[in-house]
Amino acid sequence: MISTIIGTRPEIIKMSRLIPLLDKNFDHRFVFSGQHYSKEMVDIFFEQLKVRQPNHVLTPGKLEHKPMASSDYTYLLPAISNEIRENNPDYVIVYGDTNSTLAAALAAQKFGKKIIHIEAGLRSFDERMSEELVRILVDHMSELLFVPTDLESMFLEKEGIKNNKFVVGNTVVDACLYYSDIADKESRILENIGLQKDEYAFATIHRAENVDSPEKLIKILRALATLDKQVVIPMHPRHKKRLNEFGYNVPSNIKTIEPLGYIDALKIMKNAAYVLTDSGGVQEEAITLKVPCITLRETTERWETVSAGANFLTGIDPRLINYKAKMILGTDVKTKIQNIPNPYGDGKTSERITNILLDKLKK
Ligand code: UD1
Ligand code: UDP
Repeated sequence: MISTIIGTRPEIIKMSRLIPLLDKNFDHRFVFSGQHYSKEMVDIFFEQLKVRQPNHVLTPGKLEHKPMASSDYTYLLPAISNEIRENNPDYVIVYGDTNSTLAAALAAQKFGKKIIHIEAGLRSFDERMSEELVRILVDHMSELLFVPTDLESMFLEKEGIKNNKFVVGNTVVDACLYYSDIADKESRILENIGLQKDEYAFATIHRAENVDSPEKLIKILRALATLDKQVVIPMHPRHKKRLNEFGYNVPSNIKTIEPLGYIDALKIMKNAAYVLTDSGGVQEEAITLKVPCITLRETTERWETVSAGANFLTGIDPRLINYKAKMILGTDVKTKIQNIPNPYGDGKTSERITNILLDKLKK
């Protein structure tokens, strides 16, 4: 049996096209860790992306000793360990670089289960990020690694991981392309917020290193205030919580809205003049949807987007953010990126992963 264990918004999106294929071809158990739990971060994605209900949803509230947060290892590790002990899978699939990813990998390893890591090999080379440590640890614990691009395969080679890694693209493209046409037809988000194509920039900010410090979050918002566009920000709960704590009134060209479902998120991204973000998934979707991206970080683990000329790293320096935004609007960046091949694949990554698993596991 294979158990897939995930627990956050981007993991639901990125596994949405793969879960039905795993169900069809394997004895497959699907577990949701409950790291993300709000309706607007979880339920809407299960509904819109037609992801079937998990066999088991772990909930922090049911534990005797409540954790500080649902991403706390003191909750995740025992809860996932119990799940693995009771259900005894042969393989455990984990995705990406969240606390749920590491907790599931540690629990799997404790019980001698083989780990399959999807979206392996990404490296920002910034070891201050908890996500970077998760990537490195989980890659080195895994039996099979599904790697988006040749670059990441090379990173793994350099760390001594030479076998059982497969370059397959990124499953985000499967979801993004599949729902992009549906978003064109069904989403009313632009009418609802009263904006038209190219009239606005789209921004998301949620990284701990950007939102947890009042100085940094306010610096970013002040920088966005100097842009020539309206800026629409659906607020990740972490961003919203911090903004409320810091008691800062956002500048008038910034429109903060509730987190969007996937259909509206795609529509608003596709029609933006450009995107500003510290999200991993949004950097990948921007190049897939051919929208220029400014990444509000000094580094990225999505290097392919930078070398393709579709993504610009500014950190949170207001002058750089401003220059890059002006450069995007004042040059032919947008036209040029229409023709670049998507480094993350053709939307068939989930199929490719399934075929490799059929070959490797059913022998
Ligand atoms: C987590 C991942 C990050 C990923 C992001 C995707 C870790 C350490 N970080 O960050 O790599 O990019 O998910 O969105 O795993 N909250 C809610 N409702 C929710 C989820 C979170 O209110 O459904 C609030 C809670 O106050 C929580 C805070 O957001 O304490 C942070 O959530 P957490 O899961 O710790 O980290 P993320 O910032 O979501
Ligand atoms: N997203 C969404 N609604 C929003 C903001 C983001 O559907 O309001 C989607 C976005 O399109 C991408 C994913 O959420 O697919 C990215 O998640 P997030 O930024 O939380 O995490 P990361 O990718 O950085 O781990």
